[in-house]
Amino acid sequence: MCEPDHLASTRAVYDHSAAQYVAGVGTAVSAKFEAPLDRAVLDAFAESVRSQEPGSVLDAGCGPGRVAAYLADRGLDARGVDISVAMIDAARAAHPHLRFDQGCLTALPLPDNSIGAAVYWYSIITTPPSELPAIWHELRRVLEPEGQALVAFQAGQGESVERADAYGSSAALTLYRHSVDDVLTSLRHGDFDIRAEIRRQPDLPHETTPQAFILLARSDLQIP
Ligand SMILES: C[S@@+](CC[C@H](N)C(=O)[O-])C[C@H]1O[C@@H](n2cnc3c(N)ncnc32)[C@H](O)[C@@H]1O
Repeated sequence: MCEPDHLASTRAVYDHSAAQYVAGVGTAVSAKFEAPLDRAVLDAFAESVRSQEPGSVLDAGCGPGRVAAYLADRGLDARGVDISVAMIDAARAAHPHLRFDQGCLTALPLPDNSIGAAVYWYSIITTPPSELPAIWHELRRVLEPEGQALVAFQAGQGESVERADAYGSSAALTLYRHSVDDVLTSLRHGDFDIRAEIRRQPDLPHETTPQAFILLARSDLQIP
């Protein structure tokens, strides 16, 4: 199990605040937290993945399983992984028909080439930029050759934001506003092709930064 400092604090904060997260954000993708464009991106991703006849789709850093449930509702065989046991418990309670496992984005509890697609929906926001290549290396390991992925995050210049009492917990958490260009570069170095890159301005009441969405595929994927 990987456990650098950022991961220990991520686990502590989300374990402590899972109930508050569920009360505030919910257990489903919603108009309150996903703008119309965000949901359109998820829909386009689901349609593209469906057309590839994939195996299972991983909600990587799933929290309470909102995106896994959204993709399952669109006909995909979705499952989730999260470092926080409390989040996994919340996901299982909310979506008992889906599979959720505790695990780390850099050490996924999955065999090589075993998933058809993956979504990182705001789950890289507590990972320092320097650690992203390890996440993409692990993604490359578990993705089937035709695999695709979607990454969503608050965009910035790679700066960090300190939260002293994240989600109302007493634990400190560092959040990162990743540079879109740096994320794209790290993905290309990880042997992925960029299929689409979308940035939108803050649109929802709680948003203070642009939001970024990157669609990618293993570099050996043949596009018809
Ligand atoms: C902001 S929440 C988003 C949760 C979910 N994707 C959603 O949209 O509701 C970030 C989640 O990513 C998980 N996470 C962050 N870094 C992780 C890592 N390295 N490995 C596994 N899970 C991680 C956290 O535990 C947390 O549940």
